[in-house]
Amino acid sequence: MALPEAFLQELLLRSDISEIASTYVNLKRHGRNLVGLCPFHNEKTPSFNIYTESNSFYCFGCGAGGNVINFIMRIENLDYIDAVKLLAQRAGMNMPEESYDDSMSRLRNRIFEANRAAARFYHSCLYSNEGQQGLDYLHKRALTDKTIRRFGLGFAPDSPFALTNHLKSLGFTDYELETANLAVKSKKSGKVIDRFFNRVMFPIIDLRANVIAFGGRIMTDQKPKYLNTSDTPVFKKSANLFSLNNAKNTANRQLILCEGYMDVIAVNQAGFQNAVATLGTALTKEQAVLMKRYADEVVICYDADEAGQKATARAIEILRSTGIEIKVLRVPNGKDPDEFIRSKGENGPVAFKNILENCGNDLEYQLQNLKLKFDVTTPQGKVGYLNEAVKILAKLENKMEQDVYISKLSGELSVEKSTIVTQVNKLSRQNYKARQKKEFTKLQTDLSGTKDTINKQHYQMPRATKAEESLLAYLINNPDSVDYINAKLPPEKFRTDFNRQLYVYFSDRIKSGLHPTSNMAADFTMEESGKITAIMTSCSSLAATRQALDEYINVILQESEKLSEEKISTATDDELMDFIKRIKQQKK
Ligand code: UTP
Ligand code: MN
Repeated sequence: MALPEAFLQELLLRSDISEIASTYVNLKRHGRNLVGLCPFHNEKTPSFNIYTESNSFYCFGCGAGGNVINFIMRIENLDYIDAVKLLAQRAGMNMPEESYDDSMSRLRNRIFEANRAAARFYHSCLYSNEGQQGLDYLHKRALTDKTIRRFGLGFAPDSPFALTNHLKSLGFTDYELETANLAVKSKKSGKVIDRFFNRVMFPIIDLRANVIAFGGRIMTDQKPKYLNTSDTPVFKKSANLFSLNNAKNTANRQLILCEGYMDVIAVNQAGFQNAVATLGTALTKEQAVLMKRYADEVVICYDADEAGQKATARAIEILRSTGIEIKVLRVPNGKDPDEFIRSKGENGPVAFKNILENCGNDLEYQLQNLKLKFDVTTPQGKVGYLNEAVKILAKLENKMEQDVYISKLSGELSVEKSTIVTQVNKLSRQNYKARQKKEFTKLQTDLSGTKDTINKQHYQMPRATKAEESLLAYLINNPDSVDYINAKLPPEKFRTDFNRQLYVYFSDRIKSGLHPTSNMAADFTMEESGKITAIMTSCSSLAATRQALDEYINVILQESEKLSEEKISTATDDELMDFIKRIKQQKK
């Protein structure tokens, strides 16, 4: 059931997108609008735009866009109704009665309930006879019972129906269990069986204390070592972090970013609750933006091995684009944090604290790595190191930071500061030019519509598409013109299907007294909403006079005749006669 229009309108009025988006993204004012780095994809030059006038957003890079509800759905990973609820709560509005329990929302709640029941089941198995080997395994890995309870760890028994039978006895259906990815259909028997068996289980809990997924570790050397819940209606791997529910409350606004479940738990047991981990994938932009909300500083604490160091370099790049402070903790002796903390008995945690408090920032980390590659006691080594170091410093956008490190480098290598400055400035200029050039090319592709993935007919019919879009923008911005436009322009005159669909949709809404775009987040996908926002905003600078409108209508009518020409080959005799008559009339 749809939400009442009056409620939606008030909600949108009270939810200022520039204010709301600013809590997630660093935004700079740009005339009437705001611009920043897109939170939904990784980029170096800002393509994310907030349009204050229409209270909407659009990213030229990835096409995400829409109104404030679309934004919350995507950034908080919520469905439509839950996003509306969140905004209503923020705006101090009550949800309208009975309208909000749509089927998706109900299914999500059932999955949360099933997951919670599963977590309880796994935990109780761990402390039963069946789970003895799981408990032994966790104890062997130096976890205390207190830690096990705190993280709600569990054990999935070595039997295909243990959890499934239990949850079915509680009233859950096969469909619900499969959708939650707690069970899967067996390829052999066709029966619904447990997803996890004979593994120690790590529940993943979101910021509202819902169990959203699980990771399960096998207790031997078999593969895969960890099995994780696939994406479900309540879980998106790339947008969540393990243990953020524990870490978000720490006072110092610092997060420790680890690679794995066991690292996070060991760091916690050593006394630091602010550890989180990605869930078996490389760090994403969405996760970085999420961290930025709870922290001003992230300490990257990945494994010391080569893979860990590669991942560190990638994480630095992604975190930098959010503007968060970065430090890098090097775990000594080629270990991962968990092994290190465990290795020296009582000394482990103390040593860890020491390294944590003294670790350098991302730049120092990069410079140290670089220095290892050269023998700076020789002149050649010095030059080699300097040449590479200058490249890193030239990428810094903060001039003050740049100056600090130039001074450091100059002292360290006994090289004139001015020499390094000249070199850095030269490269900075080159970088800037390259960025500008890239941005320009990008803008051109955006404007030419060659990568329009929503309206695929755009490319074959650029003239018609442009006129249709201009007309749609006019209609949305001047709803009182609907009767005039509709009288002159029946929907069949539209050549592109997407625009025709929008034309009918907006006309109907306006004629029913509704705001044209207030229900956009419910009726369209994020990409479609993005396209609509792009149409609305890119055409808003065009002439909005009656004369211009008539011109759009004319072009659309002309273009629709072309369509008929293409159809001649399949037309009946009558249609053909009719067509010729019309063309003749036009020519008069
Ligand atoms: P690691 O292989 O470094 O494991 O993977 P680990 O955390 O040190 O685990 P232990 O100490 O051997 O138990 C790091 C993270 O990558 C994901 C998991 O989230 C793991 O914690 N991973 C790893 C998987 O999702 N699947 C795998 O098969 C392996
Ligand atoms: Mn490990």
